[in-house]
Amino acid sequence: MSQATVEILLPEAVGTINPNLYGHFAEHLGSCIYEGIWVGEDAAIPNTGGIRDDVAEALRRISPPVIRWPGGCFADDYHWQDGIGPRSARPGAVNIHWGNVIESNAFGTHEFITFCRRVGAAPYICGNVGSGSPREMRDWVEYCNYPGGSTLSDRRAENGSPEPFGVRYWGVGNENWGCGGHFSPEDYGTEFKRFATYLRDYGTPLHLIACGPPGNDVAWTRRFFEKIRVEHPFHPPMHGYSAHYYCGTAGASTEYTEDQWYQLLYQAADLEPLIVQQRAVMDVFDPRRAIGLIVDEWGTWHPTEPGRNPAFLWQQNTMRDALVAALSLDIFNRHADKVVMGNIAQTINVLQSMILTDGPRMVTTPTYHVYDLYQAHQGGQSVRTLISAPSIGFHIGTERRELFGLTGSASLKGNTLTATLVNLHTAEPVESTLRLWGDAKCASAACTVLAHEDIHAHNTFEAPETVTSVARPVDLSGSVLSYICPPASVTRLDLRLGG
Ligand code: AHR
Repeated sequence: MSQATVEILLPEAVGTINPNLYGHFAEHLGSCIYEGIWVGEDAAIPNTGGIRDDVAEALRRISPPVIRWPGGCFADDYHWQDGIGPRSARPGAVNIHWGNVIESNAFGTHEFITFCRRVGAAPYICGNVGSGSPREMRDWVEYCNYPGGSTLSDRRAENGSPEPFGVRYWGVGNENWGCGGHFSPEDYGTEFKRFATYLRDYGTPLHLIACGPPGNDVAWTRRFFEKIRVEHPFHPPMHGYSAHYYCGTAGASTEYTEDQWYQLLYQAADLEPLIVQQRAVMDVFDPRRAIGLIVDEWGTWHPTEPGRNPAFLWQQNTMRDALVAALSLDIFNRHADKVVMGNIAQTINVLQSMILTDGPRMVTTPTYHVYDLYQAHQGGQSVRTLISAPSIGFHIGTERRELFGLTGSASLKGNTLTATLVNLHTAEPVESTLRLWGDAKCASAACTVLAHEDIHAHNTFEAPETVTSVARPVDLSGSVLSYICPPASVTRLDLRLGG
């Protein structure tokens, strides 16, 4: 058993954990929207107004704060007017990015807003810069948010929604360095300003999100902000600047060696240098830190399961994905003073999903259980947490690498301190000594653990409860606490302070 210390510096507040760090992403890709969310009113699968009940209820339980839609690459080829009005009259379009399948447009703006309301999330709409126009996007904002009396807002009322949707979050394109138009940072800077000029606040303050770099390309960020600054200092307002970080794979979704287990966690941990380096460049141009860093696509990306359409990105999800999710969310919590939104890719049936469906069947993934555990951090005050633990040696091919053995974060809400701890060892427990600084004492504690003795464990339609979190009794009190993290596990400790 290895030993670790976890110093929780209660007097050192990092910042409030924006609930949006626990956001989601749903794209018109594979079976995320069609089958995963939308089955249509006439389907045999239980639904309300076409939206499946099992999925909506499961998502609601993990409190998704925000959902990004309709893409992804799909967004820069989407024309929103195709997705409103009577469904029977909506045009069919070829989904050029994801398998050239026919997009029926049955799920459009109204259906998305209804879905968000069902699960309790705020909508985040990504506009079309690549193949669209400033007019098309400004019209979408007017259609959604103008109270009434304009032709577009009246059309919204005719289509069943007299009340404005009040959509606050708007992305100005997606990956505009790639599938969103292959712009240079300077050209995208020009496009961002041109589009944003025509996007207006009709009673709902707009939070515009600019597309950020490919991966951790700091030069892209510098060049974009230089362009914005030089010609038009921070006007129009930019709420967020978005990076995407996919940690990829090592082996395959359910088949990997112990070294590949560590390799993927090592790749996932690169999210932290990305945040540190991107925020450092942003600070040069935005020293008052008015613009938040957003990671609106992130997660694992495994080879598609055999027998499935490779363009649909359907993958299984194991304990390894759960640990990727947990260590990434801990990174977000530790940078709560700068990172204001995170959207895992993707909610259902695509990449690192929360939920997998198979016709009428549905299963929640290990990643879902991490989101369930970590929802306690939403809105809490992130407090500085210093962990020291022996590192783990492993190999990528013939090269030896090292990875930290334990990671985590902590947040405070009233007199409850939530600490999450991730033990990355495949087989070794970690005995952790938690020290509460600032005269704090734990009066009582609760503990919930996600763990499995098999590092490949995952949930299937036949065995949906293989990986699930369980409450464990703990007897913790005082300012120095001892807790043993099981191997390959995620733990949440809820410590009630007082006494
Ligand atoms: O999430 C799948 C794709 O990954 C998105 O459409 C795109 O933005 C990214 O490259």
